[in-house]
Amino acid sequence: MLVLGVESSCDETGLALFDTERGLLTHAVHSQVAMHAEYGGVVPELASRDHIRRVIPLTRRVLDEAGLALSDLDAIAYTQGPGLAGALLVGGGFANALALALGIPAIGVHHLEGHLLSPLLATPRPEFPFVALLVSGGHTQLMRVDGVGRYQLLGETVDDAAGEAFDKTAQLLGLDYPGGPALAKLAEGGEPYRFKLPRPMLNSGDLDFSFSGLKTAVLTLVRKEGEAARVDVAAGFQAAAVDVLAGKSLKALRETGLHTLVVAGGVGANRALRARLDAEAKQRGLAVFYPPLELCTDNGAMIAYAGALRLAHDAPADGRFTVRPRWALGELTAPR
Ligand code: KG4
Ligand code: ZN
Repeated sequence: MLVLGVESSCDETGLALFDTERGLLTHAVHSQVAMHAEYGGVVPELASRDHIRRVIPLTRRVLDEAGLALSDLDAIAYTQGPGLAGALLVGGGFANALALALGIPAIGVHHLEGHLLSPLLATPRPEFPFVALLVSGGHTQLMRVDGVGRYQLLGETVDDAAGEAFDKTAQLLGLDYPGGPALAKLAEGGEPYRFKLPRPMLNSGDLDFSFSGLKTAVLTLVRKEGEAARVDVAAGFQAAAVDVLAGKSLKALRETGLHTLVVAGGVGANRALRARLDAEAKQRGLAVFYPPLELCTDNGAMIAYAGALRLAHDAPADGRFTVRPRWALGELTAPR
């Protein structure tokens, strides 16, 4: 079965072709980062308009790259939520209209389920059950995953998401939006223990996170130490964030008795986090899995893949569709 995946929940237009026999054939992403940069964040209306411009050319591109035609498609999976309403409507409208025209099913996919299952696109691939650390720009959650649609929330952030904390801290350090990757790069040359930064909620006894205090601590530090300390502040922030994310992930594994950790979402691309988790895993006989690096941030491949897994069971759309800008992952159920 050949599935076209369409992602348009935020500021990336992602298209992909996933074949249930042959795996991921091709994927393409257009990032709107440069367009939103001058505003310091995503402007929803501009995002929707840009998705409209990109979605058809990108569909052509993935089909051309795979040497396939629209008539070869068996189904279309699109991000139904959560995300920006207008942006979701573009991908949802496109996917449903095309599916109706081709006489094939369209299926709405939960964006976070896409992230959560994306490590299964890597080789070697993890086996259920596992603990998932979902760290994106909008979410920070630890989840027990027993199968497709069988998710139990173990803990989550009580304020900022991890990616949001990276982005806001980067902004304090004068880096361009979205600052996560830039902050990570700056931190590479820094001394992570020069400044004492808090590890919020590391010993709170539960599996929740908090990042807003860390951001405030950085603000105070930047005011006191000035420009010259930027590199070490960046390194200090990253070390603190990694300590908390790794500490809580290990605690989740201990409490569930599971031995496999899966990391997904944009912050999963962070090298310091990966190095730390790999080292801890090696020492403790655990296994850690990540999506392929280019599939950490938003993309159509994870949507095509999650859609393909669900299509065998769930009822597809009938041409009518809604988007779900706010949609908790816990509301999902296992495929019937
Ligand atoms: O999953 P994602 O692409 O979008 C959401 O669904 O939110 O995640 C984007 C987030 C941004 O906050 C970005 O700064 C962060 O992931 N990010 C990183 C890195 N690459 C992306 N944060 C830290 N280090 C990185 N290397
Ligand atoms: Zn995402």
